[in-house]
Amino acid sequence: MKKVYVGMSADIIHPGHLNIISKARVLGEVIVGLLTDKAIASYKRLPFLSYNQRKIIVENIKGVTRVIPQYTLDYIPNLRKIKPDYVVHGDDWKTGVQREIRDRVIATLSEWGGELIEPRYTPGISSTKLNIGLKEIGTTPGIRLKRLRRLLAAKDIIRIIEAHNGLTGLIAENVKVVKGNMNKEFDGMWLSSLTDSTAKGRPDIGYVDLTSRMSTIDNILEVTTKPIIYDGDSGGLLEHFELMVRTLESRGISAVIIEDKIGLKRNSLFGTDVEQTQDTIENFSRKIKAGKQSQVTDDFMIIARIESLILKTGMKDALQRAKAYIEAGADGIMIHSKEKKPDEVLEFCAHYKKFNQKVPLVAVPSTYNTITEKELKKAGVRIVIYANQLLRSAYPAMLKAATLILENERAYECEKIAIPIKEIITLIP
Ligand code: SPV
Ligand code: MG
Repeated sequence: MKKVYVGMSADIIHPGHLNIISKARVLGEVIVGLLTDKAIASYKRLPFLSYNQRKIIVENIKGVTRVIPQYTLDYIPNLRKIKPDYVVHGDDWKTGVQREIRDRVIATLSEWGGELIEPRYTPGISSTKLNIGLKEIGTTPGIRLKRLRRLLAAKDIIRIIEAHNGLTGLIAENVKVVKGNMNKEFDGMWLSSLTDSTAKGRPDIGYVDLTSRMSTIDNILEVTTKPIIYDGDSGGLLEHFELMVRTLESRGISAVIIEDKIGLKRNSLFGTDVEQTQDTIENFSRKIKAGKQSQVTDDFMIIARIESLILKTGMKDALQRAKAYIEAGADGIMIHSKEKKPDEVLEFCAHYKKFNQKVPLVAVPSTYNTITEKELKKAGVRIVIYANQLLRSAYPAMLKAATLILENERAYECEKIAIPIKEIITLIP
Protein backbone atom coordinates (compact mmCIF):
# COMPACT_ATOMS: atom_id res chain seq x y z
CA MET A 1 0.00 0.00 0.00
CA LYS A 2 1.38 3.41 -0.98
CA LYS A 3 1.50 6.19 1.59
CA VAL A 4 -0.34 9.43 0.85
CA TYR A 5 0.18 12.55 2.97
CA VAL A 6 -2.39 15.33 3.19
CA GLY A 7 -1.68 18.41 5.33
CA MET A 8 -4.64 20.45 6.50
CA SER A 9 -6.01 22.75 9.20
CA ALA A 10 -9.58 21.46 8.83
CA ASP A 11 -11.14 24.13 11.01
CA ILE A 12 -14.16 24.44 8.79
CA ILE A 13 -14.57 21.23 6.81
CA HIS A 14 -16.09 21.81 3.37
CA PRO A 15 -16.48 19.78 0.16
CA GLY A 16 -13.05 21.00 -0.96
CA HIS A 17 -11.41 18.97 1.83
CA LEU A 18 -13.48 15.91 0.99
CA ASN A 19 -12.51 16.22 -2.65
CA ILE A 20 -8.81 16.19 -1.72
CA ILE A 21 -9.23 13.16 0.52
CA SER A 22 -11.25 11.24 -2.04
CA LYS A 23 -8.53 11.88 -4.61
CA ALA A 24 -5.88 10.84 -2.07
CA ARG A 25 -7.52 7.54 -1.05
CA VAL A 26 -7.39 6.27 -4.61
CA LEU A 27 -3.59 6.51 -4.39
CA GLY A 28 -3.08 4.62 -1.13
CA GLU A 29 -3.51 4.90 2.63
CA VAL A 30 -4.22 8.48 3.65
CA ILE A 31 -2.28 10.04 6.50
CA VAL A 32 -3.57 13.48 7.41
CA GLY A 33 -1.03 15.85 8.94
CA LEU A 34 -3.36 18.01 10.99
CA LEU A 35 -1.86 21.41 11.78
CA THR A 36 -1.74 22.06 15.51
CA ASP A 37 -3.22 25.26 16.99
CA LYS A 38 0.34 26.50 17.34
CA ALA A 39 1.17 25.81 13.70
CA ILE A 40 -1.96 27.60 12.50
CA ALA A 41 -1.57 30.53 14.88
CA SER A 42 1.99 31.01 13.60
CA TYR A 43 0.63 32.43 10.35
CA LYS A 44 -3.06 33.23 10.81
CA ARG A 45 -5.79 33.46 13.41
CA LEU A 46 -6.36 30.75 16.00
CA PRO A 47 -8.77 28.13 14.60
CA PHE A 48 -12.34 28.08 15.86
CA LEU A 49 -12.09 24.42 16.89
CA SER A 50 -9.36 22.99 19.12
CA TYR A 51 -6.89 20.41 17.79
CA ASN A 52 -8.71 17.53 19.45
CA GLN A 53 -12.07 18.62 18.06
CA ARG A 54 -10.60 18.91 14.57
CA LYS A 55 -8.85 15.55 14.94
CA ILE A 56 -12.09 13.73 15.77
CA ILE A 57 -13.75 15.21 12.71
CA VAL A 58 -10.94 14.34 10.31
CA GLU A 59 -10.49 10.81 11.71
CA ASN A 60 -14.08 10.13 10.81
CA ILE A 61 -13.85 11.18 7.20
CA LYS A 62 -14.14 8.19 4.84
CA GLY A 63 -10.76 7.26 3.46
CA VAL A 64 -8.61 8.70 6.26
CA THR A 65 -6.37 6.03 7.76
CA ARG A 66 -4.51 8.05 10.34
CA VAL A 67 -4.31 11.60 11.71
CA ILE A 68 -1.00 12.86 13.03
CA PRO A 69 -0.06 16.32 14.27
CA GLN A 70 1.80 18.65 11.93
CA TYR A 71 3.58 20.94 14.39
CA THR A 72 4.71 23.56 11.90
CA LEU A 73 3.35 25.23 8.79
CA ASP A 74 6.35 23.61 7.14
CA TYR A 75 5.54 20.10 5.85
CA ILE A 76 9.13 18.95 5.74
CA PRO A 77 9.60 17.45 9.26
CA ASN A 78 6.56 15.17 8.80
CA LEU A 79 7.49 14.30 5.22
CA ARG A 80 10.97 13.22 6.29
CA LYS A 81 9.47 11.07 9.04
CA ILE A 82 6.82 9.39 6.89
CA LYS A 83 8.47 9.43 3.46
CA PRO A 84 5.13 9.32 1.65
CA ASP A 85 4.83 8.22 -1.96
CA TYR A 86 2.44 11.09 -2.58
CA VAL A 87 1.48 14.43 -1.12
CA VAL A 88 -1.96 15.63 -2.19
CA HIS A 89 -2.79 19.34 -2.01
CA GLY A 90 -5.21 21.62 -3.86
CA ASP A 91 -3.60 23.49 -6.73
CA ASP A 92 -4.43 26.86 -5.13
CA TRP A 93 -1.02 27.02 -3.45
CA LYS A 94 0.86 27.43 -6.72
CA THR A 95 0.63 31.16 -6.24
CA GLY A 96 0.53 33.34 -3.16
CA VAL A 97 1.96 32.90 0.30
CA GLN A 98 2.20 29.10 0.21
CA ARG A 99 4.20 28.92 -3.01
CA GLU A 100 7.50 28.64 -1.23
CA ILE A 101 6.24 25.80 0.96
CA ARG A 102 5.05 24.00 -2.20
CA ASP A 103 8.51 24.28 -3.78
CA ARG A 104 10.12 22.77 -0.70
CA VAL A 105 7.60 19.94 -0.61
CA ILE A 106 8.44 19.04 -4.23
CA ALA A 107 12.19 19.19 -3.53
CA THR A 108 11.90 17.03 -0.41
CA LEU A 109 9.66 14.42 -2.05
CA SER A 110 12.17 14.06 -4.86
CA GLU A 111 14.72 12.76 -2.32
CA TRP A 112 12.88 9.40 -2.28
CA GLY A 113 11.01 9.62 -5.57
CA GLY A 114 7.75 10.88 -4.04
CA GLU A 115 5.28 12.90 -6.05
CA LEU A 116 3.05 15.91 -5.50
CA ILE A 117 -0.52 15.50 -6.77
CA GLU A 118 -2.59 18.66 -7.07
CA PRO A 119 -6.29 18.27 -7.73
CA ARG A 120 -7.99 21.38 -9.03
CA TYR A 121 -9.06 23.68 -6.21
CA THR A 122 -12.81 23.36 -5.60
CA PRO A 123 -14.20 26.62 -6.94
CA GLY A 124 -16.88 28.55 -5.10
CA ILE A 125 -15.65 27.54 -1.67
CA SER A 126 -13.36 29.66 0.34
CA SER A 127 -12.33 29.15 3.94
CA THR A 128 -11.78 32.89 4.15
CA LYS A 129 -15.39 33.54 3.13
CA LEU A 130 -16.64 30.90 5.53
CA ASN A 131 -14.57 32.57 8.24
CA ILE A 132 -16.33 35.85 7.56
CA GLY A 133 -19.67 34.03 7.66
CA LEU A 134 -18.79 32.46 10.99
CA LYS A 135 -17.83 35.82 12.42
CA GLU A 136 -21.23 37.12 11.39
CA ILE A 137 -22.89 34.30 13.27
CA GLY A 138 -20.83 35.34 16.26
CA THR A 139 -19.65 33.44 19.28
CA THR A 140 -20.83 32.46 22.75
CA PRO A 141 -19.57 33.74 26.12
CA GLY A 142 -18.05 30.34 26.93
CA ILE A 143 -16.15 30.02 23.66
CA ARG A 144 -14.90 33.60 23.81
CA LEU A 145 -13.80 33.26 27.43
CA LYS A 146 -11.66 30.16 26.74
CA ARG A 147 -9.98 31.81 23.79
CA LEU A 148 -7.34 33.69 25.78
CA ARG A 149 -6.03 30.52 27.41
CA ARG A 150 -6.06 28.78 24.02
CA LEU A 151 -4.09 31.67 22.55
CA LEU A 152 -1.56 31.45 25.38
CA ALA A 153 -1.11 27.75 24.61
CA ALA A 154 -0.76 28.38 20.88
CA LYS A 155 1.27 31.58 20.56
CA ASP A 156 4.49 32.93 22.02
CA ILE A 157 3.21 36.48 22.24
CA ILE A 158 -0.38 37.67 22.21
CA ARG A 159 -1.23 41.07 20.78
CA ILE A 160 -4.06 43.03 22.41
CA ILE A 161 -5.42 46.43 21.44
CA GLU A 162 -7.68 48.84 23.30
CA ALA A 163 -11.33 49.16 22.29
CA HIS A 164 -13.82 51.54 23.86
CA ASN A 165 -16.96 51.15 21.76
CA GLY A 166 -18.47 49.02 19.01
CA LEU A 167 -16.56 50.78 16.25
CA THR A 168 -13.13 50.36 17.83
CA GLY A 169 -14.13 46.78 18.67
CA LEU A 170 -14.70 46.22 14.96
CA ILE A 171 -11.28 47.64 14.15
CA ALA A 172 -9.65 45.31 16.68
CA GLU A 173 -11.67 42.42 15.27
CA ASN A 174 -11.04 42.99 11.58
CA VAL A 175 -7.84 44.88 10.88
CA LYS A 176 -5.28 42.68 9.11
CA VAL A 177 -1.84 43.03 7.64
CA VAL A 178 -0.33 40.47 5.31
CA LYS A 179 3.45 40.36 5.50
CA GLY A 180 5.21 37.64 3.54
CA ASN A 181 3.37 34.45 4.36
CA MET A 182 2.14 35.86 7.67
CA ASN A 183 -1.37 37.05 8.21
CA LYS A 184 -1.19 39.43 11.16
CA GLU A 185 -4.07 40.58 13.30
CA PHE A 186 -4.85 41.49 16.88
CA ASP A 187 -5.65 38.57 19.14
CA GLY A 188 -8.01 40.38 21.47
CA MET A 189 -9.12 43.60 23.12
CA TRP A 190 -8.25 45.62 26.21
CA LEU A 191 -11.11 47.31 27.97
CA SER A 192 -9.03 50.24 29.25
CA SER A 193 -10.29 52.32 32.15
CA LEU A 194 -8.49 55.32 30.64
CA THR A 195 -10.04 55.16 27.20
CA ASP A 196 -13.48 53.98 28.37
CA SER A 197 -13.63 56.89 30.85
CA THR A 198 -12.21 59.42 28.39
CA ALA A 199 -14.63 58.36 25.63
CA LYS A 200 -17.42 59.06 28.11
CA GLY A 201 -15.91 62.47 28.90
CA ARG A 202 -14.92 61.43 32.42
CA PRO A 203 -11.56 61.34 34.21
CA ASP A 204 -9.88 57.99 34.80
CA ILE A 205 -10.54 57.97 38.55
CA GLY A 206 -12.89 55.03 38.86
CA TYR A 207 -15.96 57.27 38.55
CA VAL A 208 -17.28 55.40 35.50
CA ASP A 209 -18.71 52.46 37.39
CA LEU A 210 -19.02 48.80 36.48
CA THR A 211 -22.59 49.18 35.20
CA SER A 212 -21.53 51.88 32.78
CA ARG A 213 -18.45 49.96 31.71
CA MET A 214 -20.58 46.86 31.14
CA SER A 215 -22.62 48.84 28.65
CA THR A 216 -19.40 49.56 26.72
CA ILE A 217 -18.56 45.88 26.93
CA ASP A 218 -22.01 44.89 25.66
CA ASN A 219 -21.57 47.11 22.61
CA ILE A 220 -18.23 45.45 21.88
CA LEU A 221 -19.44 41.91 22.60
CA GLU A 222 -22.26 42.26 20.12
CA VAL A 223 -20.02 42.99 17.14
CA THR A 224 -16.86 40.97 17.88
CA THR A 225 -15.67 37.43 18.61
CA LYS A 226 -12.18 38.02 20.00
CA PRO A 227 -11.31 37.69 23.70
CA ILE A 228 -11.43 40.66 26.06
CA ILE A 229 -9.14 41.59 28.93
CA TYR A 230 -10.84 43.96 31.35
CA ASP A 231 -9.00 46.75 33.18
CA GLY A 232 -10.45 46.38 36.67
CA ASP A 233 -8.48 49.28 38.25
CA SER A 234 -7.69 48.12 41.80
CA GLY A 235 -10.68 45.77 41.87
CA GLY A 236 -12.12 47.97 44.64
CA LEU A 237 -13.05 46.40 47.95
CA LEU A 238 -12.45 42.67 48.20
CA GLU A 239 -16.19 41.98 48.45
CA HIS A 240 -16.84 44.10 45.37
CA PHE A 241 -14.06 42.40 43.44
CA GLU A 242 -15.65 39.00 44.02
CA LEU A 243 -18.84 40.26 42.41
CA MET A 244 -16.93 41.94 39.58
CA VAL A 245 -15.28 38.61 38.72
CA ARG A 246 -18.69 36.91 38.51
CA THR A 247 -20.12 39.66 36.32
CA LEU A 248 -17.20 39.64 33.89
CA GLU A 249 -16.99 35.88 33.73
CA SER A 250 -20.70 35.48 33.01
CA ARG A 251 -20.36 37.79 30.00
CA GLY A 252 -17.48 35.80 28.52
CA ILE A 253 -14.67 38.21 29.43
CA SER A 254 -11.44 36.18 29.53
CA ALA A 255 -9.44 38.04 32.15
CA VAL A 256 -9.39 40.93 34.56
CA ILE A 257 -6.25 42.84 35.46
CA ILE A 258 -6.19 44.52 38.87
CA GLU A 259 -3.50 46.87 40.11
CA ASP A 260 -2.02 46.80 43.61
CA LYS A 261 -3.18 50.25 44.69
CA ILE A 262 -5.70 51.60 47.18
CA GLY A 263 -7.48 54.91 47.71
CA LEU A 264 -8.67 57.27 44.99
CA LYS A 265 -7.76 55.69 41.70
CA ARG A 266 -5.40 57.79 39.57
CA ASN A 267 -4.00 56.82 36.21
CA SER A 268 -0.63 55.09 36.57
CA LEU A 269 1.00 57.27 33.95
CA PHE A 270 0.87 60.20 36.42
CA GLY A 271 3.50 58.25 38.33
CA THR A 272 4.48 60.06 41.51
CA ASP A 273 3.11 63.43 40.28
CA VAL A 274 -0.14 62.69 42.11
CA GLU A 275 -0.72 60.89 45.36
CA GLN A 276 -1.09 57.15 44.79
CA THR A 277 -0.85 54.51 47.48
CA GLN A 278 0.25 50.95 46.93
CA ASP A 279 -1.66 48.19 48.68
CA THR A 280 0.17 45.88 51.07
CA ILE A 281 1.25 42.53 49.69
CA GLU A 282 -0.98 40.79 52.25
CA ASN A 283 -4.15 42.73 51.36
CA PHE A 284 -3.68 42.45 47.65
CA SER A 285 -2.90 38.74 47.88
CA ARG A 286 -6.11 38.28 49.83
CA LYS A 287 -8.02 40.05 47.07
CA ILE A 288 -6.51 37.79 44.41
CA LYS A 289 -7.42 34.71 46.44
CA ALA A 290 -10.99 35.92 46.97
CA GLY A 291 -11.37 36.59 43.25
CA LYS A 292 -10.04 33.16 42.32
CA GLN A 293 -12.44 31.53 44.75
CA SER A 294 -15.43 33.38 43.37
CA GLN A 295 -14.96 32.51 39.69
CA VAL A 296 -17.12 29.71 38.33
CA THR A 297 -15.01 28.26 35.51
CA ASP A 298 -11.34 27.29 35.41
CA ASP A 299 -10.90 29.42 32.32
CA PHE A 300 -11.29 32.94 33.70
CA MET A 301 -7.97 34.62 34.50
CA ILE A 302 -7.07 37.08 37.22
CA ILE A 303 -3.92 38.99 36.39
CA ALA A 304 -2.09 40.94 39.08
CA ARG A 305 -0.63 44.28 38.05
CA ILE A 306 2.44 45.49 39.88
CA GLU A 307 2.84 49.25 40.33
CA SER A 308 6.17 49.25 42.15
CA LEU A 309 8.16 50.66 39.21
CA ILE A 310 5.53 53.38 38.66
CA LEU A 311 5.50 54.33 42.34
CA LYS A 312 9.28 54.06 42.67
CA THR A 313 9.23 51.45 45.39
CA GLY A 314 11.92 49.53 43.57
CA MET A 315 12.77 46.42 41.59
CA LYS A 316 13.17 44.31 44.70
CA ASP A 317 9.66 45.19 45.81
CA ALA A 318 8.27 44.46 42.33
CA LEU A 319 9.87 41.01 42.29
CA GLN A 320 8.79 40.22 45.84
CA ARG A 321 5.23 41.14 44.92
CA ALA A 322 5.30 39.04 41.77
CA LYS A 323 6.27 36.00 43.83
CA ALA A 324 3.59 36.68 46.42
CA TYR A 325 0.82 37.28 43.88
CA ILE A 326 1.66 34.08 42.01
CA GLU A 327 1.58 32.28 45.34
CA ALA A 328 -1.86 33.79 45.97
CA GLY A 329 -3.14 32.30 42.72
CA ALA A 330 -2.70 35.03 40.11
CA ASP A 331 -2.98 33.62 36.58
CA GLY A 332 -0.73 36.30 35.15
CA ILE A 333 1.54 39.17 36.18
CA MET A 334 1.49 42.58 34.56
CA ILE A 335 4.55 44.71 35.14
CA HIS A 336 3.88 48.37 34.47
CA SER A 337 6.32 51.21 33.82
CA LYS A 338 6.08 54.80 32.66
CA GLU A 339 9.69 55.18 31.66
CA LYS A 340 10.57 56.26 28.15
CA LYS A 341 13.00 53.39 27.87
CA PRO A 342 12.20 49.70 28.42
CA ASP A 343 15.23 49.12 30.67
CA GLU A 344 13.43 48.60 33.98
CA VAL A 345 10.81 46.33 32.42
CA LEU A 346 13.53 44.28 30.76
CA GLU A 347 15.41 44.07 34.04
CA PHE A 348 12.24 42.80 35.72
CA CYS A 349 11.78 40.26 32.93
CA ALA A 350 15.34 38.99 33.30
CA HIS A 351 14.79 38.34 37.02
CA TYR A 352 11.34 36.90 36.35
CA LYS A 353 12.79 34.33 33.95
CA LYS A 354 14.63 32.78 36.87
CA PHE A 355 11.47 32.26 38.97
CA ASN A 356 10.63 28.62 39.62
CA GLN A 357 6.93 29.29 39.53
CA LYS A 358 5.88 31.48 36.61
CA VAL A 359 2.63 32.65 35.06
CA PRO A 360 2.22 34.58 31.78
CA LEU A 361 3.80 38.02 31.88
CA VAL A 362 1.97 41.08 30.54
CA ALA A 363 3.52 44.38 29.40
CA VAL A 364 1.93 47.67 28.37
CA PRO A 365 4.51 49.60 26.35
CA SER A 366 2.69 52.97 26.19
CA THR A 367 5.66 55.15 27.12
CA TYR A 368 8.54 52.82 26.26
CA ASN A 369 6.96 52.41 22.87
CA THR A 370 10.05 51.85 20.72
CA ILE A 371 10.30 48.29 21.96
CA THR A 372 9.17 45.71 19.41
CA GLU A 373 7.06 42.62 19.91
CA LYS A 374 10.08 40.55 18.98
CA GLU A 375 12.11 42.13 21.80
CA LEU A 376 9.28 41.70 24.29
CA LYS A 377 8.91 38.07 23.27
CA LYS A 378 12.61 37.50 23.76
CA ALA A 379 12.33 38.98 27.24
CA GLY A 380 9.58 36.46 28.05
CA VAL A 381 6.53 38.71 27.76
CA ARG A 382 3.49 36.67 26.69
CA ILE A 383 0.86 39.40 26.32
CA VAL A 384 1.47 42.88 24.93
CA ILE A 385 -1.29 45.44 25.39
CA TYR A 386 -1.56 48.52 23.17
CA ALA A 387 -3.61 50.29 25.79
CA ASN A 388 -4.83 53.59 24.33
CA GLN A 389 -3.67 54.16 20.75
CA LEU A 390 -7.05 54.05 19.00
CA LEU A 391 -8.58 56.76 21.17
CA ARG A 392 -5.42 58.84 21.20
CA SER A 393 -5.19 58.86 17.43
CA ALA A 394 -8.91 59.54 16.93
CA TYR A 395 -8.96 62.55 19.27
CA PRO A 396 -6.57 64.84 17.36
CA ALA A 397 -8.34 63.94 14.10
CA MET A 398 -11.74 64.90 15.53
CA LEU A 399 -10.35 68.08 17.06
CA LYS A 400 -8.83 69.01 13.72
CA ALA A 401 -12.13 68.45 11.90
CA ALA A 402 -14.04 70.65 14.36
CA THR A 403 -11.38 73.39 14.13
CA LEU A 404 -11.39 73.33 10.32
CA ILE A 405 -15.15 73.87 10.25
CA LEU A 406 -14.92 76.79 12.68
CA GLU A 407 -12.06 78.40 10.79
CA ASN A 408 -13.66 78.13 7.36
CA GLU A 409 -17.31 78.45 8.32
CA ARG A 410 -18.03 75.47 6.10
CA ALA A 411 -17.29 71.72 5.93
CA TYR A 412 -15.44 71.59 2.61
CA GLU A 413 -11.91 71.75 4.10
CA CYS A 414 -12.78 68.93 6.44
CA GLU A 415 -13.36 66.49 3.57
CA LYS A 416 -9.64 65.99 3.05
CA ILE A 417 -9.23 64.39 6.44
CA ALA A 418 -12.54 62.53 6.60
CA ILE A 419 -13.79 59.20 5.31
CA PRO A 420 -16.07 59.86 2.30
CA ILE A 421 -19.81 59.88 2.97
CA LYS A 422 -20.27 57.04 0.49
CA GLU A 423 -17.92 54.90 2.56
CA ILE A 424 -19.25 55.77 6.01
CA ILE A 425 -22.81 54.79 5.08
CA THR A 426 -21.64 51.37 3.99
CA LEU A 427 -18.89 50.89 6.59
CA ILE A 428 -21.17 48.85 8.81
CA PRO A 429 -23.04 46.47 6.51
C1 SPV B 1 -5.51 51.84 31.07
O1 SPV B 1 -5.40 51.70 29.85
O2 SPV B 1 -6.50 52.36 31.61
C2 SPV B 1 -4.45 51.39 31.97
C3 SPV B 1 -3.06 51.39 31.50
O3 SPV B 1 -4.74 51.08 33.10
S1 SPV B 1 -2.38 52.90 31.98
O4 SPV B 1 -3.18 53.96 31.38
O5 SPV B 1 -1.02 52.92 31.49
O6 SPV B 1 -2.42 52.98 33.42
MG1 MG C 1 -6.58 51.77 33.72
